Amino acid sequence: MSRRKIIAGNWKMNQTPSEAVELVKTLAPLVQNPDVDVVYCVPAIDIIPVREAIKGSNVRLGAENVHFEDKGAFTGEISPKMLKDAGVEYVIIGHSERRQYFGETDQTVNKKLLKLIEYGFRPIVCCGETLEQREAGITMDWINMQIKIAFSGVSAQQAKDVVIAYEPIWAIGTGKTATTGQAEEICGGIRRTIAGLYGEATAEAIRIQYGGSMNAANCKELLSQANIDGGLIGGASLKPDFGTIVHYQKA
Ligand code: PGA
Repeated sequence: MSRRKIIAGNWKMNQTPSEAVELVKTLAPLVQNPDVDVVYCVPAIDIIPVREAIKGSNVRLGAENVHFEDKGAFTGEISPKMLKDAGVEYVIIGHSERRQYFGETDQTVNKKLLKLIEYGFRPIVCCGETLEQREAGITMDWINMQIKIAFSGVSAQQAKDVVIAYEPIWAIGTGKTATTGQAEEICGGIRRTIAGLYGEATAEAIRIQYGGSMNAANCKELLSQANIDGGLIGGASLKPDFGTIVHYQKA
């Protein structure tokens, strides 16, 4: 089965609203590829201006986080209903930076995933190991656990529309990309985990991204692997390099 590639920018805490609009304009001519899904996951305050700036283009709108309750006394948080009303389609959950700095856990990722499914979003669920875990030889055990908890209560039908982003923590923002072999091995392992949970058809349908210092130079090789269906791109998503990644076949 051929899965449609998904190239998503994770802008993190970069770009003021006016800078965001400028960036969308700069990237607009570079990111038109009808063969891939292109997504900008942007800071909450940029969602509305970016929604307007991408109107009529192939780019889809994404958020970087969401709360798992519909509404209420959660100062500073953004609800799924708010994101839906603002026109967001994709939402990143469980990014390692949110786990590290903001107390995100596998359990909150699970609650968020169930909520995003309920509201009809396309979730991007992040997982990945630390360098210590890799060196201890427990990478796949760790990721299996992250995936199994995240997907608890999710049906096969729902799971196939979820995107999983494999992001080794030691490769994020460090310039140290996982080797193609390492990235493919774990993305293939995640697909086997999904097959174990839901069967082969779901495993064949689900899209698995690699993230962690993906750039214009290494994207072609990474995105040519059998089990890597896209990229979640931080640093390089803020530069014209993102256009090269979107057109990875020609990179
Ligand atoms: P990076 O970030 O591409 O800057 O390594 C990826 C991510 O954190 O999603």
